[in-house]
Amino acid sequence: MNSANNAGKIIKSANSFVGRCMEAFSIFVTCSMISKNIEEKFRLITDYWKPGIVAELNGQLVKLAKLKGAFVWHSHAHEDELFYVHKGTLYMEFRDKTEVVHPGEIIVVPKGVEHNPYTRDDEEVWVMLFEPAATLHTGEVTHEKTDNNQQWI
Ligand code: NI
Repeated sequence: MNSANNAGKIIKSANSFVGRCMEAFSIFVTCSMISKNIEEKFRLITDYWKPGIVAELNGQLVKLAKLKGAFVWHSHAHEDELFYVHKGTLYMEFRDKTEVVHPGEIIVVPKGVEHNPYTRDDEEVWVMLFEPAATLHTGEVTHEKTDNNQQWI
């Protein structure tokens, strides 16, 4: 077997390992030691407002989501949420003000504070989220956009 074939085998076995890792994240100890390209992960997301999980550390999940249009008013009684804007402009509406979050900027929504993220002019906005694993997508609210069965990507 020549070296080109060997190289192919190595790549193939690496891919299958990553596949297993994503399917069964019970082995996330080794999952976490694989570098991941964030742009490539964003490309795997096809539905708006449906986050995909890319990492777990210290009981926190790191998620990627594509947002477009309006979400739903909600709050999380016990969890703070961090939004990092990767692309586009995120509007985070609170009951008393709206914060504008640009690419490269972050905003933390404190626990218990009602919020409603939205985008303007049909813009697609890419965000990275940091929140405890127990965080419900729309808090105590159930809505057609609610997704509490979020998957690793
Ligand atoms: Ni929230």
